[in-house]
Amino acid sequence: MSDVNTPIKNPEVKFTQIFINNEWVDSVSGRTFPTINPATTEKITLVQEGDKADVDKAVAAAKEAFKLGSPWRRMNASDRGRLLNKYADLLERDLQYICSLETLDNGKPYHTSIGDLTFAIKVIRYYAGWADKNTGKTIPVDGDFFCYTRHEPVGICGQIIPWNYPMLMYSWKFAPALAMGNAIVIKPAEQTPLTCLYAASLVAEAGFPPGVVNVVPGYGPTAGAALTAHPDVNKVAFTGSTEVGQIIMQASGASNLKRTTLELGGKSPNVIFPDVDIDKVVDFANDAAMTNMGQCCIAGSRTYVHEDIYEEFVKKTIERAKKRTVGDPWTKVENGPQIDEEQFNKILGLIKAGQEDGAKLECGGGRHGDCGYFIQPTVFSDVTDNMRIAREEIFGPVQSIFKFKTMDEVLERANDTSYGLAAAIFTNDINTAMTYTQGVKAGTVWVNCYEVVNAQAPFGGFKMSGLGRELGEYGLSQYTEVKNVVIKIPEKNS
Ligand code: NAI
Ligand code: MG
Repeated sequence: MSDVNTPIKNPEVKFTQIFINNEWVDSVSGRTFPTINPATTEKITLVQEGDKADVDKAVAAAKEAFKLGSPWRRMNASDRGRLLNKYADLLERDLQYICSLETLDNGKPYHTSIGDLTFAIKVIRYYAGWADKNTGKTIPVDGDFFCYTRHEPVGICGQIIPWNYPMLMYSWKFAPALAMGNAIVIKPAEQTPLTCLYAASLVAEAGFPPGVVNVVPGYGPTAGAALTAHPDVNKVAFTGSTEVGQIIMQASGASNLKRTTLELGGKSPNVIFPDVDIDKVVDFANDAAMTNMGQCCIAGSRTYVHEDIYEEFVKKTIERAKKRTVGDPWTKVENGPQIDEEQFNKILGLIKAGQEDGAKLECGGGRHGDCGYFIQPTVFSDVTDNMRIAREEIFGPVQSIFKFKTMDEVLERANDTSYGLAAAIFTNDINTAMTYTQGVKAGTVWVNCYEVVNAQAPFGGFKMSGLGRELGEYGLSQYTEVKNVVIKIPEKNS
């Protein structure tokens, strides 16, 4: 067997069409769109461009698959679990190929593609286990009645995936939806459709009935909007920008009150008290800001450092950032390129705004190399709360360092944002940690660690970072409707 740690540098692209009813079809319009390798800016291939007409076909297929009495609706819950486990086996079998395709299409270093897919497989296995365990209740209501609840699938789920973690975000939406017996239509991000399309081919191989999983590649304002406005789609799950999350919620509400889960942006505070091992925490804080090239909704993009250690911390952070390896994603670098020209320009624009607003650019700040969308690891110190780099999601390898004095002050500043996805604190004082974990408004809080995300624990945001929770047992409720059944008991038996 080939070594999975060695990438296939020129993976053959096998699937570029639309996947409906376990079959590959061209777009109704006949249009295609290019997908680009961000490390070279070269076109990899053309993909069929789905739009409303294709979404209509995919939703019709899902609706047929979801009809009462269909093979999918009649399947034992335990067999749904078996299918999901089989699907996970196939992803594992093709790990090297899929991760190579991910690195080609997304630009993330190959070893991080492996990390993503390994996690995605765990998520699928985790939800496979839930397929026959999400039980309802019997409820002792007043009167001669037998009352129980059923946790039924919501129905047709539209799932809109971002480009920063293509396979991971796919698994977070695909696995709980299918475990609970829904039928789905997925729209991968236009920047990274290839791994999702390959993963669709394994749906048929695993043996899911036709129409249960459909994949329509295409753009957001066309294919994505058609999915969120479709009257036969019962639920939409979205990960992406807050701006588009708001559009989706409006469209979902206006069309048919779709259930919506939104996993949106963040500006997560990472607070560092003086009683820590500075060298270790410098590493944590740098990774928190720059993992996945900073293209991470939970990026610790606001590093708050206590004044007693501020100077030493800044100095060591600059040394760390300068050592961060950037380059060819087929090698063991820490950072590859940003996803595309739009993001590349957005990040450079915000770096410029940071300088204009008076933050001190300590290192980086520009393009890395002369080919591809690479950006130098960038550190700003003396950042203050009203600067654009303190308020807007940068989604690039940019760490902003702020100085603070007291817990009360830093807690207020940490919460002074429209976002609330994640937060962290580094301290060895239990009371300091407790005060912060209670007071900070975020869906996840880490103490002395960062970016610990697991299949078993909920993930999602407070405030404008989103709506609902993915992962863990909490994630199940997003893919089920509760049906209350009341049966009259004959009086003589009660
Ligand atoms: P985006 O929110 O536009 O794209 C994410 C997904 O939504 C893609 O599949 C896209 O095709 C789809 N989409 C776009 N417009 C849509 C619409 N009107 N209706 C339905 N679907 C639609 O994000 P974009 O433009 O790629 O990045 C912009 C910013 O968003 C980034 O700089 C970053 O700040 C943030 N972002 C956050 C992510 C997260 O993980 N929370 C992921 C991607 C982006
Ligand atoms: Mg967009």
